[in-house]
Amino acid sequence: MNETNYRLLDSQLHALLDDEADALAAASNFVALLYNALDDINWLGIYVLRGNELVLGPFQGKPACVHIALDEGVCGAAAATLETQRVADVHAFPGHIVCDPDSRSELVVPLIANGKLIGVLDIDSPTTRRFSAADQEGVEDLCASFCALQEKRKDFI
Ligand code: SME
Repeated sequence: MNETNYRLLDSQLHALLDDEADALAAASNFVALLYNALDDINWLGIYVLRGNELVLGPFQGKPACVHIALDEGVCGAAAATLETQRVADVHAFPGHIVCDPDSRSELVVPLIANGKLIGVLDIDSPTTRRFSAADQEGVEDLCASFCALQEKRKDFI
């Protein structure tokens, strides 16, 4: 598996999103950029905070569950704690929601703009222990860039 060049990805993210005013278009391209840049993943997308639940947003991969409560699954845990969840083996995570049965490990990063949770970025891999601490740091940095750009828009995703 190739190491991901997160610095390069960040500059590509800025090239794609800096001048884009539409939040949905920007989020969709953010997701597509990452999905195609990361090796050995089977699903990547955003769940958007809508009221008291997470709702499926832009993603790449198989169709997925649409509504996730904040006390459900890995995504709910990231949203409720505001902390990244790096799960080496999803079968060992109590309450993990099976969307794609191929998924074995998962990285979920809370998306916070203007100090408020706007959603989570969820990445699934068919390989256990796919995500390293360096991946977590790299993806968190990309999410921070994405959220900083979201802050410049009137409407969030
Ligand atoms: N596995 C996630 C649900 C979303 S899918 O993986 C796309 C979870 O437990 O929150």
